[in-house]
Amino acid sequence: MYDFGLVGLGVMGRNFILNVADNGFSAFGYDLDAEKVNSLKNEGGNLEQVDASTNIKTFVKNLKQPRKIMLLVPAGKVVDAVIESLLPHIDKGDIIIDGGNSFFTDTDRREATLQNRGINFFGAGVSGGAKGARKGPSIMPGGSKSAYEHIKPIFEAVSAKYNGEPCVAYLGPKSAGNYVKMVHNGIEYGLMQLTSEIYDVLRKGGDHDNDELHDIFASWNAGRLQSFLVEITSEIFKQEDTLVKGRLVDQILDKAKQKGTGKWTSQNAMDLGIPVPSIDVAVSMREISALKDERIKADALYDRPTVQHMEKAQLTDLSEKALYFSFIVTYAQGLHQLADASKEYGYQLDISVIAKIWRAGCIIRAGLLADITEAFKAEPALPNLLLSATFVDKIKDTVDAARKLVAFGATNGIPLPGLSNSLTYFDAYTSSKLPLNLIQAQRDYFGSHTYERLDREGIFHTEWEA
Ligand code: 6PG
Repeated sequence: MYDFGLVGLGVMGRNFILNVADNGFSAFGYDLDAEKVNSLKNEGGNLEQVDASTNIKTFVKNLKQPRKIMLLVPAGKVVDAVIESLLPHIDKGDIIIDGGNSFFTDTDRREATLQNRGINFFGAGVSGGAKGARKGPSIMPGGSKSAYEHIKPIFEAVSAKYNGEPCVAYLGPKSAGNYVKMVHNGIEYGLMQLTSEIYDVLRKGGDHDNDELHDIFASWNAGRLQSFLVEITSEIFKQEDTLVKGRLVDQILDKAKQKGTGKWTSQNAMDLGIPVPSIDVAVSMREISALKDERIKADALYDRPTVQHMEKAQLTDLSEKALYFSFIVTYAQGLHQLADASKEYGYQLDISVIAKIWRAGCIIRAGLLADITEAFKAEPALPNLLLSATFVDKIKDTVDAARKLVAFGATNGIPLPGLSNSLTYFDAYTSSKLPLNLIQAQRDYFGSHTYERLDREGIFHTEWEA
C-alpha cells in the first residue's frame, strides 16, 4: 500500500510524485494517458517507492487509508471532473488536495460539497515550477486543520527548506491556501513587471548590453535584492540563441501571456477595497503588450523623446535602489490584501507564517522575505509593511532613487508604470493629507452625497451656490 496518491502526471505531477518518493514516502500516480504512466520512471529517483496506473480503481485500491490524493491537473472543469471520477471509489475520511491554481471560490464550493460527503478537501497552492516540484516547492495548504495532520509529514518532507525549516504550513480553513497562492502570483506579476522595467531603463537609458545586464543582475542577486527572479533574470541575459546569432532574449516576442491569477488578485483586491496598483499595472502591461500590432501603428504616429543617456554607474545605482524600493512596496500591497481578505473570508491568516514559507521554493522567494517575516512576527496585526519600523530606513534609503528613475523614464519616454505606481502608492499612502476633500465636495455638489468635516463630527450637506 502506498502513502500518497497523485492524479495528473504532467510536468508538475511527475516531478512532485518523484519528490515524494525521493523523500521516503511511497507514492502511486494516476493518469489517463498511458504514455505519461509508462514514462514516469524514466527520470530516475527512488523508483522502488513509486508506481502508477491508468486505472482509477487500481489507483485508489493501492492507497493507504485515509487516502491522501493530490490533484495536479489544470484548474477549472478538469478538477471537478477528476473529483467526480474519484468519488465512487473513495471513503469517508479520505483527503483530496487540489495543488493547482484554482480560483478560491471554486475551492470553497468543492470543499463544502465534499465535506457533506465526509471527504476532506484541501486547496494547496504549489509554487516553484517543475524544478521546485521535484527539488522542493513552497506549499500553501488550506482546509480542515485536523485532516492536515495526515498530510503534514509528507508536505514537510517534500517542501523546500529555509535554514532547515520547511516552506509549508497550515494556513487556514477553506480556500485560504488557494487565496494565498493567488496573491503570491499577483506579487509575482508585480515583481516580474518591475524587473522588466529596470531592464528597459538600463538598456535604453544607459546602453547596457546583455553581458553588462547579466553582471548587474548577478551582482544585485548577491546583495539585498537577492531573489529567484533577479537570479534567473541575470541568467536569461547570458543565454545564446540557437537559431540566429546573438542572445535569445533579443529574439523573444514582447507579448506576455497570462493564465489569470494576477488578474484575479487585482479583481479581488478591488472587491475588497484594497489598493494594489503595482499588481494592477502589471496585469495591464501584459494586456498592452498583447496589442503588438496596434503598438507598432501607434509608434509610427508619435515622436518619442531622444533618450538622454545617463552615466552607466549612476543609472545602475538608481536602478538597484528603485527596484529594491518597489519590491518592498509590491510585497506591502499583496500582504495588505491578504490581511484584509483574512478578515473578510475568515481565514485567520498569520502573515508572518506566509512570509516564512515564501522564503524558499517559490517564485517570489527573496532575501527580503526574511525581514518581512520578522516584521510581522514582531507586529502580527501590522496593517501595512510600510508602517513597520524594520522597513522605514530601507524605504528612506531608496525612495529618492525611485523618484529620480521614474522622472528619468517620463522625460525620456521609457514606460515605467510598475515603478511609478509603486512610488505613487507610497506617496499617497504616506500623505496625511490628500486632495480627496475636493472629490467629496464634487459628490455633494452634484449628487447631495454628503461629506464629513475635519473640525467636527457628523454628516453634512451643503446647498452649493453657483
Ligand atoms: C508558481 C507560478 C505558477 C504560475 C506561472 C504562470 O508559483 O510556480 O506562479 O503557478 O502558473 O507563474 O503564470 P502566468 O501564466 O499567469 O504568468
